[in-house]
Amino acid sequence: MNDIDLKNLRNQAEQEIKKAKNLNELNKVFKEYLGKKGQVSLIFKKLKNAAPKQRISVRKELNSLKSFLQLEFKKKQEQLEISNSVEQKTWFDVTAPGHKEQMGHLHPLTIVKREIMIIFQEMGFEVAQGPEVENDWYNFDALNMPKHHPARDMWDTFWLKPRKSDLLLRTHTSPVQIRYMEKHKPPLKIIAPGKVFRHEATDASHAFQLYQLEGLMIDRDISVSNFKAIIYEFLKRFFKKNVSIRLRPSYFPFTEPSFEIDMGCTACEGKGCSVCSQTGWLEMAGAGMVNPNVLKNVGLDSKEWQGFAFGFGIDRLTMMRYKIPEIRLFHSGDLRFLKQF
Ligand code: DAH
Repeated sequence: MNDIDLKNLRNQAEQEIKKAKNLNELNKVFKEYLGKKGQVSLIFKKLKNAAPKQRISVRKELNSLKSFLQLEFKKKQEQLEISNSVEQKTWFDVTAPGHKEQMGHLHPLTIVKREIMIIFQEMGFEVAQGPEVENDWYNFDALNMPKHHPARDMWDTFWLKPRKSDLLLRTHTSPVQIRYMEKHKPPLKIIAPGKVFRHEATDASHAFQLYQLEGLMIDRDISVSNFKAIIYEFLKRFFKKNVSIRLRPSYFPFTEPSFEIDMGCTACEGKGCSVCSQTGWLEMAGAGMVNPNVLKNVGLDSKEWQGFAFGFGIDRLTMMRYKIPEIRLFHSGDLRFLKQF
């Protein structure tokens, strides 16, 4: 037993430690050298028979070899443990169910608004827009409601300060009719979807902010029957079934005659139920033939041009589409509601 043997042993052990690919293999190498019956232990045992002088010097070297190897094992073990955990993290099971990423989506009002726009665009209508902050002229005067006209009370209005500025939050999308006709000559067919504001108390079916869909068609020889055909077609396409409609006389300053459009209740097919308060009919929109005064206000000759206009509530259409019982849910920010769309 001499120095060479120990050097060899040391080299050999070092190599094998290096080569170990996993903890299992490393364990085997450990046993081979430092285990109870390992090579180092065997040499310790053999030392008993050696001459005392040699025994002392070899034991010294053997001890340093032993602690050297212990250290090497420890280092290698740590290395393997780290790479092991990295491997586990990056390991990819293609059969595992995927994590569903949370994606944003459209608000129900936007879904319905876009759908309505497509239906009308398919029927040849263009989409027009106007400002949400309007002035008195466009929101009222031009629509045949001069100052102090009692019909102004139909809309509780948010006036902007200072009061004298005549600025307000539009109470309906009808002013877009005026703005559009000022810039475009008939014949014309437009819709104007947009936000409107009402200074009124809220409940399950009233909000201070809602969406309307304005419609306007001006041409020569336009009659109520053209209007009925368009509305019937729209409702049929929107509700994806045959619908029945009826016109009820009503009053709006900007139309003459004016009417309310009712649709046969889609819940009970007109038999009468809680949705339609047992009437079999649902109120859908205000409408009428454009008042000659309105045409005059935009410089059109009402002897040459006529047309119809209508205003739907997009919130109401959305509530009917999805059976939503409460208008305030739309702007509640409640994720339990929003995530359903
Ligand atoms: N602007 C009306 C409202 O907000 C709705 C309306 C009624 C619009 C009749 C029209 C119409 O264009 O012809 O209550």
